[in-house]
Amino acid sequence: MKAVVWHGPRDVRVDEVEDPRIEEPTDAVIKITSTAICGSDLHLYEVLGPFMSEGDVLGHEPMGIVEEVGSGVEQIKAGDRVVIPFNISCGNCWMCDQNLFAQCEATQNRDQDKGASLFGYTKLYGQVPGGQAEYLRVPQAHFGPIKVPEGPPDDRFLYLSDVLPTAMQAVEYADVPEGGTLAVFGLGPIGTMCGRIAARKGQRVIGIDLVPERLQLAEKHGIEALDLEEHEEISDTIREMTGGRGTDATIDAVGMEAHGAPVGKLAQKAAGLLPDAIAEPLIKRAGIDRMAALYHCIDSVRRGGTVSISGVYGGMADPIPVFQLFDKGIQVRMGQAHVKRWIDDLMPLVTDDADPLGTADLASHKIPIDAAPAAYEMFQKKEDGATKVVIEPGR
Ligand SMILES: NC(=O)c1ccc[n+]([C@@H]2O[C@H](COP(=O)([O-])OP(=O)(O)OC[C@H]3O[C@@H](n4cnc5c(N)ncnc54)[C@H](O)[C@@H]3O)[C@@H](O)[C@H]2O)c1
Ligand SMILES: [Zn+2]
Ligand SMILES: [Zn+2]
Repeated sequence: MKAVVWHGPRDVRVDEVEDPRIEEPTDAVIKITSTAICGSDLHLYEVLGPFMSEGDVLGHEPMGIVEEVGSGVEQIKAGDRVVIPFNISCGNCWMCDQNLFAQCEATQNRDQDKGASLFGYTKLYGQVPGGQAEYLRVPQAHFGPIKVPEGPPDDRFLYLSDVLPTAMQAVEYADVPEGGTLAVFGLGPIGTMCGRIAARKGQRVIGIDLVPERLQLAEKHGIEALDLEEHEEISDTIREMTGGRGTDATIDAVGMEAHGAPVGKLAQKAAGLLPDAIAEPLIKRAGIDRMAALYHCIDSVRRGGTVSISGVYGGMADPIPVFQLFDKGIQVRMGQAHVKRWIDDLMPLVTDDADPLGTADLASHKIPIDAAPAAYEMFQKKEDGATKVVIEPGR
C-alpha cells in the first residue's frame, strides 16, 4: 500500500510499504477514507526528528471502513464506518477505568517512561505505524474505534479522532465560570475549535494568532480575534479588554513551536542539526521549547484563574515562571486528550445536520495521498490559507 513515510527532518515521502494485517486477536484493519495532518505532525516534521526513525509511517487522525477484525473484536465488523482515536487504549485497565485513556496501562511505554501508545508518534510513544496510509492496523480494536453513521461527509466525523476531543478537554480543563471569559492562544484547528466550543457554552472568547485567514475564520464563529503582531504587549490588551483583570482562563493551543521566542528557536534548530544520540538527551533534559504562547497564557490569565495547555511541549527543563504562577494563584492543567472520554458529549453535535461546530469549514485542503509531501511543506509554512489538510487515500 501507499503510506506517508518520515525520512528525515522536513523530508516526508509517499512510499510503497507492506500492507498491514491482523497480528493480535484484538486488532482490526481499516481501509482509510480520510486522514488529516495535525499541528502535532509538524513537531515530528522538524523539531522532534531525533525521536523518529527513517521509515516511520505518520498520521494519527484517520477514519475509514473496517476491512477485517481479529477474533477478539466484537464491537465493530467488516463494512462498519469508524473513526480511530489517536491514543491507543484498552478500555479496561485501572487508568482507562478513570477515563484517563491517554495513560492506558496496557499500552503505556514504560521503557521510555511515557504514557499510552499513539499512532504515528515517535519511539517515545510505541512507534506504532500511523494512519496517513491506504490501510491501518488498529491495536486494541475491541475498544478504540468509534462507530459513526452513514450519510454525512467524512469531515463531520473525522475530527473525533483528535481535534474535537482535544478542544473539548482544553475547554473543560479551563473551567471558566458561567458567563466568564477565556483567551485562546493559537487559532489552528485546535484553538479555533476550543473557541467554538467555549462560545457555545456562553463564554466570551478572545482568540490570538498571527495568520490572517485563521483570525478571519475564528471571527466567523463569534471569537474576538486579535493579531499578535498588532499589539505591543498582548497581555496588556487582554487586561484592557477585561476590566484590568485578565481572563478567567487561558488556553495554550500553540505548543513548542511558538513564534516570538528566538532563544528557543536557536536551540531547537541546533538540536535538529545534531546527531540523534546527542540531540535526543538534549531535548529530553534541557528546555528547548519556544515558550512565548505559554508565557502569554500565564501573564494574561487573571489572579486565581486557570491555564489549560493542549499545545505539546517536549523539553524536560523548560524555564517556567513559578513565582508568577504561585503569586497569582493559578491552576494549570494539561496533557494529551483522553479521546474516548469526550465522545458521548461530542456525538450529538456531530450527528446534528445543522453542524453546530462548523466541521464543514475546517479543512482548507483535501488532497490525494501523493500530494502529502508538498502539503506538509505548505502546512508548516502556513501558506495558501492552509488551516487543516485532509488526505483522501482513495482519490
Ligand atoms: N493535547 C493533545 O492531545 C493535542 C492534540 C492535538 C494537537 N495538540 C497540539 O496542539 C497544538 C495546536 O495544534 P494545531 O493542529 O491547531 O496546530 P497549528 O500549527 O495548525 O496551529 C498553531 C497556531 O498557533 C499560532 N501561533 C504560533 N505562535 C503563536 C503565539 N506566540 N501566539 C499565538 N498564536 C501563535 C500559529 O500561527 C498557528 O495558527 C500543537 O502543539 C499540537 O501538537 C495537542
Ligand atoms: Zn492530531
Ligand atoms: Zn487501558
